[in-house]
Amino acid sequence: MIPPNEKSDYESHSRRLNPWAWKNASLSLLTLLLLVPIYQYLNTNSSTNELVATTSPYSSIETIELTSSEKDDLKRLGLTPKKPIKIVTDEKGNQIVHGRFLHITDIHPDPYFKEGSSFDELCHRSKGNAHKYGDAISGCDAPMALMEETIKWVETNLKNKIDFIVWTGDNVRHDNDRNYPRTEQNIFEMNEHVSKLMFETFKKKDTPELEVDLIPSLGNNDVYPHNLFSIGPTLQTRELFQIWQRFIPQSQLHTFNRGAYFFKEVIPGQLAILSINTLYLFQSNPLVDNCDKRKQPGYKLFEWLGYVLKELRARKMKVWLTGHVPPNEKNYDLTCLRKYIVWIYEFRDIIVGGLYGHMNLDHFIPLDSVAAYKSIKDSQKKQKSKQLEMFEVFNQEYNDDLGTDALGETTFYQALDAKFDDSFFRIQGGVPANKVAYMETVREEVYAKIKGKKKQGDHGERYSISHVGSSVVPTFNPGLRVWEYNITNLANEMTNVKFEPWGRFFSEVEALIEKQDTYTDDFEESSVWSFIKRDKTFPLPKPKGAKLGPAYIPQTYTPERYVQYYADLASINKGKKEFDYEIEYSTDDSLYNLPVLTVEEWLKYARKLGKPAKANSINAEGKNKHKKKKHGKAEKGKNGKKLQEMWAEYLKNTFVSSNYENSGLG
Ligand SMILES: *[C@@H]1O[C@H](CO)[C@@H](O)[C@H](O)[C@H]1NC(C)=O
Repeated sequence: MIPPNEKSDYESHSRRLNPWAWKNASLSLLTLLLLVPIYQYLNTNSSTNELVATTSPYSSIETIELTSSEKDDLKRLGLTPKKPIKIVTDEKGNQIVHGRFLHITDIHPDPYFKEGSSFDELCHRSKGNAHKYGDAISGCDAPMALMEETIKWVETNLKNKIDFIVWTGDNVRHDNDRNYPRTEQNIFEMNEHVSKLMFETFKKKDTPELEVDLIPSLGNNDVYPHNLFSIGPTLQTRELFQIWQRFIPQSQLHTFNRGAYFFKEVIPGQLAILSINTLYLFQSNPLVDNCDKRKQPGYKLFEWLGYVLKELRARKMKVWLTGHVPPNEKNYDLTCLRKYIVWIYEFRDIIVGGLYGHMNLDHFIPLDSVAAYKSIKDSQKKQKSKQLEMFEVFNQEYNDDLGTDALGETTFYQALDAKFDDSFFRIQGGVPANKVAYMETVREEVYAKIKGKKKQGDHGERYSISHVGSSVVPTFNPGLRVWEYNITNLANEMTNVKFEPWGRFFSEVEALIEKQDTYTDDFEESSVWSFIKRDKTFPLPKPKGAKLGPAYIPQTYTPERYVQYYADLASINKGKKEFDYEIEYSTDDSLYNLPVLTVEEWLKYARKLGKPAKANSINAEGKNKHKKKKHGKAEKGKNGKKLQEMWAEYLKNTFVSSNYENSGLG
């Protein structure tokens, strides 16, 4: 057995799997001589786990009082007036931490958009009803004016109140007009245009430094042809780096060129944002197959993810995962989805949550780690892998009756398949169809099936949540979201932060990944080799001593609430309102009533959203007493009505107050 106080997860695991120390004493001396240097090499390179922390990254930390006009301004925007913290670092100079950030996604600016043109012609020509800032549910992309006004609104209203901007891709129009086919040049230029606009807007006044950090990620429409992206370095990864050079740390150039992913330390030594290239996990990318084969870019992405997460843990940092395409059974290849979910699970001590775009629907998706492990285990059994041992540990933790609930065979997946053909997820742009039916499926097959307290773990840690933001492109109405997170005790905690420069880590990661590159899948059978090159794309169990992080237990960096803003295009277009973003809802409104945005609270809320639906589906099936007993009765009376209102409110917000749910298109 493993002694409880391990120096590092890597060591504890390598000891457990070390095949020659206990079992293979018969190994020839020759093999040993060959292997020891490699073993030492790998161990040296994993030594970043025992950080020799040096200095504090901050030369000063100071809590700032808000003026009364600043407080009023925050209140006007529905934001919490809390005291910012001013820090000074070598890396960034003066930095104010407000405890807030913006998520913006799917702008889809269209230079061919013409006011007064026809929806049927994608707002490109003919006479019609297209308005200056676009129209909800018209099927058109965003007018340039909508993008410009949106970014201006953020500058005017939010720039001095947020710490960074998570910007999850699709900054180019859809490829849906035969008269204007997209070219590689178009895409390059538009990406460059939008990046420049963002940079100019959010940089400091007199220097080329960013005032508000921007963390872009790659959308499936940001590449040519759309959805297709191969492993780098390619012309495309180089072009992208060129376009995003102001946003990506130079030290990650090499990594970025390989896969268009990177991370950014938004609060030095404290908080990082990972930008994941989800096109490598995306089913619709024909250039990738899975995440289990070494040569696949998705495999390499997980290798990198593992090294980065481990390093962040060693540095006692917290991290948000961000990307364009959200994880679910339809979007991701199954081998990628389940890996992604178990990484989030095993790093539940440091991962705060996941932020995505792509779907244009404002909603959240709970991800079930037990189902992911079950799915992995089933496939591993078939392959007789050596890694099974790891999953046994996990399964003792939750003695769960999964039944057929495993990923990939879930009823959610089947239900989606039955209701929609593949085109539902593949077709891009255009007037949205079947989205109410999609949300009903999420309600019945995901929300209603969230396990109860006993099977969730004490703080719901069986699950993680991915948050899908509404888009700027008016598929419904344009939307933006501001997250607020806990900084109550941050100034105190910062005094203890130690800092280690990143340079060494990056060169080590490159060496490790290149080393792994020299192996092939054929070696898999040999036990010795499988020790040396343990499949690094699977996580090791979370170290026992590592406490649950901000996603699960309220602490510094726990999201407390978010405020969703939208532009009411119908009123703006009728001239009843000026162009503006206004508050749509926030997560502490009465029908959400979420006191803090921990996973546990989201799960409670999901179960409420799922509740009446569960009763409805039973009624529809007739009076099956057994089922009725199992699922409980439909909520009646006052509580039932409240639950119905909750769902109605949720749907309204999913479709960004465009009234789509009542439009007959759903
Ligand atoms: C914020 O974090 C601190 C610890 O840093 C914790 O004591 C406090 O309860 C948290 N606040 C909320 C509202 O959760």
